[in-house]
Amino acid sequence: MWRGLVKEYSRYLPVTEQTPNVSLQEGHTPLLFLENLSERLGVELHVKVEGANPTGSFKDRGMALAVAKAKEEGSTTVVCASTGNTSASAAAYAARAGMKCIVVIPDGKIAQGKLAQAVMYGAEIYSLDGNFDEALQMVKQLSEELPITLVNSLNPYRIEGQKTAAFEVCDQLGKAPDVLALPVGNAGNITAYWRGFQEYHQDRGTGLPEMRGFEAEGAAAIVQNRIIPNPETIATAIRIGNPASWEHAVRAAEDSKGKIDFVTDEEMLYAYKLLAQTEGVFAEPASSASVAGVIKQLNSGDLAKGKQVVAVLTGNGLKDPVTATTNANVNVQKIPNDYSLLLKSFEGVTV
Ligand code: F0G
Repeated sequence: MWRGLVKEYSRYLPVTEQTPNVSLQEGHTPLLFLENLSERLGVELHVKVEGANPTGSFKDRGMALAVAKAKEEGSTTVVCASTGNTSASAAAYAARAGMKCIVVIPDGKIAQGKLAQAVMYGAEIYSLDGNFDEALQMVKQLSEELPITLVNSLNPYRIEGQKTAAFEVCDQLGKAPDVLALPVGNAGNITAYWRGFQEYHQDRGTGLPEMRGFEAEGAAAIVQNRIIPNPETIATAIRIGNPASWEHAVRAAEDSKGKIDFVTDEEMLYAYKLLAQTEGVFAEPASSASVAGVIKQLNSGDLAKGKQVVAVLTGNGLKDPVTATTNANVNVQKIPNDYSLLLKSFEGVTV
């Protein structure tokens, strides 16, 4: 039985006998081969389905460890700023650990499902009239002035936990892929994957992928090499204009001979629908930045055909039903409660 990633990968993590087990059996997510899209695009495309984690995003990997370590160190309260997924995950793991969780979110800019999660897991929620970057500054300061533990990815245990996703990709494929594509927001995850691939390669000779990270066009601070004061994108999860792990992301791209690039909202929405409608995979809009980026770079020739590519789908599509129903070509037809009328609507239609 899978015991959660802290136990399964304890050899690679900063844990001791004293570290409490605060697990929801996160990790061990599917690596799914996309047969239809691979044929269409001319690459071997796999997706790492992180939406299959307990709270529906990759954040559970880092949170399982960060909350366990906070508890081990005697803390009773965790705090985070969040575009939604971090707060959902922090709240769940804090509940599991019997700790208090405080979250600060940008008002009106987080998906409904994520807010519902934080509410249900019992977090104390502050909806800030400001953006994620401003919220992060505030909780950082709060954690310095009060005896509470910051569980944003500035907390080193978050990155340590998240690096296990790279281990799993190598275990599932038998080696590292040629290319690892993922969305970039605060840039913690690209930092974590790169560390994970390097550590596994050192230990097991699994090889190193090119790291290709994708920001949203309206929040592409790293690509433009400047802080974006008012980031805007439909992908609220990565609506971040001053990524905390900026330098690490640049280094991961450079050292791996990869690239930090951007995708437009249109490109993300296209990939979002394509994944659902050609492969039955429903990921949240920000997640589809990885596949959108692969398509963009295949079209531009930046990415060669025939490569083995793993695109990380960071969060579950169900978290954001509003974006789905307002952007898919909704085909819901209202009908009276009358079978003959339903049958009639198929007249002349081949099914
Ligand atoms: N994808 C999703 C679904 C996310 O929620 C995030 C970040 C990212 C990608 C980007 O990851 O920040 O490590 O580069 N969400 C954070 C949050 C900011 O608060 O939930 P990153």
